[in-house]
Formats: sequence, C-alpha cells, structure tokens
Amino acid sequence: MSKKPIILGIESSCDETAVSIITENKESTPIILSNIVSSQVEVHKEFGGVVPELAARSHIEKIDLIAKKALEESGVRLEDLDAIAATAGPGLIVCLSVGLSFGKAMASSLGKPFIAVNHLEGHALSPKLNSDLNYPYLLLLISGGHSQFLSVEGLGKYKRLGTTIDDAIGEAFDKTAKMLGIEFPGGPQIEIFAKKGNPNKYELPRPILNKGGCNLSFAGLKTAVLRIAKQIKTDQEKYDLAASFQSTIEEILYKKSKVAFKEFKNINKDGNTFVVAGGVAANKKIREVLKKLCEEKNFKAIFPPINLCGDNAAMIAMVGLEKFKLNQFDNLDFPAKPRWSLDENAIFLKGAGVKL
Ligand code: KG4
Ligand code: ZN
Repeated sequence: MSKKPIILGIESSCDETAVSIITENKESTPIILSNIVSSQVEVHKEFGGVVPELAARSHIEKIDLIAKKALEESGVRLEDLDAIAATAGPGLIVCLSVGLSFGKAMASSLGKPFIAVNHLEGHALSPKLNSDLNYPYLLLLISGGHSQFLSVEGLGKYKRLGTTIDDAIGEAFDKTAKMLGIEFPGGPQIEIFAKKGNPNKYELPRPILNKGGCNLSFAGLKTAVLRIAKQIKTDQEKYDLAASFQSTIEEILYKKSKVAFKEFKNINKDGNTFVVAGGVAANKKIREVLKKLCEEKNFKAIFPPINLCGDNAAMIAMVGLEKFKLNQFDNLDFPAKPRWSLDENAIFLKGAGVKL
C-alpha cells in the first residue's frame, strides 16, 4: 500500500494564527492529526475590531510556536510531511504575508512541495473533514467577510450564483452586537441574547428579499437596528432586538437559499447537496432553519462541525490534500492576494449603482 499523504496547513489571513496536520485513512477519509488555533480576540477587544498591524505582529510572535505545537501533537516528524499548504488570500495582506512566508520557508528548507490555498476554498471544503461530500454541491458561505451562494463543480471550479451587495452577514452580526454593547466579536453572543428575547418584538427590513435572485443585502437591516438600539433602555429590550435581528436573518437566508436551490438545479439537474460553511454557520438557529428547508426541498444538508466553522488550518490542509493528490503545486513566488474570488468570472457587485 502506498503511503498516505501528510499535509501541514497554515492559516493567518485575519485574526487567527493556526496550523494543522492532516492525513487520510485507507478509505481516503481525512484524519485530523492536530489542529491548533490561536485566537487574537484579547489583542483586538479594546478596539472593537481587528487592527491589521497588531494582528500581523501577533501572527509573527506566535506562528513558530503554533507550528511546533501542531507537530508535537500530531507525532509527525518534519521529514514525514509531504507538502506545506498556506493561505495566500483573500485577507489582510500584512497578515497573509506572515503565514505565506512561513509556509514557503518551511517547504523550501524541507525540499517539499508548496501549495497556495484560497481561504474561501478552505471554508468550502471544510465539511469534507467530517462528511462524505461529492461534487457538485451548492455552497452558502457565510463568514465575517463573505456571504455568497456558489455552485461548487469540483476542486477550484466555482460558479457564483449570488453575493452580498454590501455588508457580509458576520459583519452584520458583529455590528449589531456592538450596538447592543457586546464586546467584539459579538456574533456568537447575539445567538445567546436571542435565546432570551422575543423575535417578533421589532419589525426589521429585509432588503432585496423579493428581487435580485439570490443576491443578499444587509446594510438597511443594520441601519434599522442602529435606530432602535439608540432608544433601548432595558436588558430585555436588548434580548428582543437580538432575537428580532436573528430571526430576520433566518428568514432572509431561508428565502434566498430557496432561490439558490432553483438556480443550482438549473445548472446541476441531479445536484441535491447543500453545504453551509464559514463562521456564521456555527449559529444553531440558522442551521435549524436551513435544515428544515433542505427537508422540504429534498436536499441533503451538510455543515462542518461547529469547531471547524470559524477560521482554522485543518480546512487549509484539506484543500492542500486535495491539490496534492492532483499534483497541483505552486511556485515559491506565489503572491499574497488580498482579493481573490473563487469565481474569477463573477462580476463585482458592490456599492452604489449596483443593478440587480
Ligand atoms: O469564518 P470566520 O471565522 O472568519 C472569516 O473568514 O470572516 O467568521 C467569523 C464571523 C464573525 O463575524 C463572527 O461574529 C461570526 O462569524 N460568528 C457567528 C457565530 N459564530 C461566529 N455569527 C452568528 N452566530 C454565531 N454563533
Ligand atoms: Zn474565514
């Protein structure tokens, strides 16, 4: 039996420094040997958002320790690694550069292949770490920086069906949290507040709900939340606003996913798998609503495990593993790409004047 590949993945695109080592068993099911994630929440808390220079400095301080820990935990020796995969974009350039340079240096000093990974492809493939997942599938990618529906046709083959025309959904969660006085990053806390509130207390706008295909918009919702948040006095009102905000998001995602199902079926007649990935996919209410939609429409719902929804390096190593098996390697001059779309043919859909 030929030796199974062992891949080391590195992630540093935003505020998580992460290194993971994965391999696969003889049935080609991926196995995570180690998955170390060091979050910088404490570094950025007082600023209410990620400060790029501080994030980069923190990556530099930690990356070698995190890599050492990942190696120790996995029991893998450096010489046993088959390839080094690192996130090359999209993300903050000063942050990307740290993990990317570290990965290239490792690959070069070990004489192993180097693989540049698109962070969004990491999210897209993250459910492969715990589920049987075959192409094609419909992907809803919901994170701090992205909200998109994509038809995933194969490794590196994406067709964007819809995207946000303004804010990302995670951004809407974080900004709502900030308006309610919750510390950054507030998304997970909104979910906790929402459990204690009345989702019907406040009527909030659902921008472009009945037009624009499966494109999304959250800016109007955010403005409405701000207006109400300014008048709020009691904790119960805060819980009610969090619950109303979350249920509005649930309705938007339910309806827009329904539209996306149709568009996906138009290009993949037999496709019936719906993957929801990215940080916001950790939200249990959103999972429930989208699972219900899948039951209604005969789609199979697949989510990554909660701990692999947010940024991590196991998903980067997962892309590395797939690319390794296809001999898709990159040169050491591969640049960091702050913007890097999964569907290079998709048109830019942001800002004033967008026509839907
Ligand atoms: O994928 P991710 O870790 O980073 C990006 O690539 O952007 O996503 C982070 C986002 C943040 O906006 C965070 O508030 C949101 O995911 N998030 C949540 C939950 N957990 C994380 N939003 C809603 N509910 C949650 N439980
Ligand atoms: Zn991410």
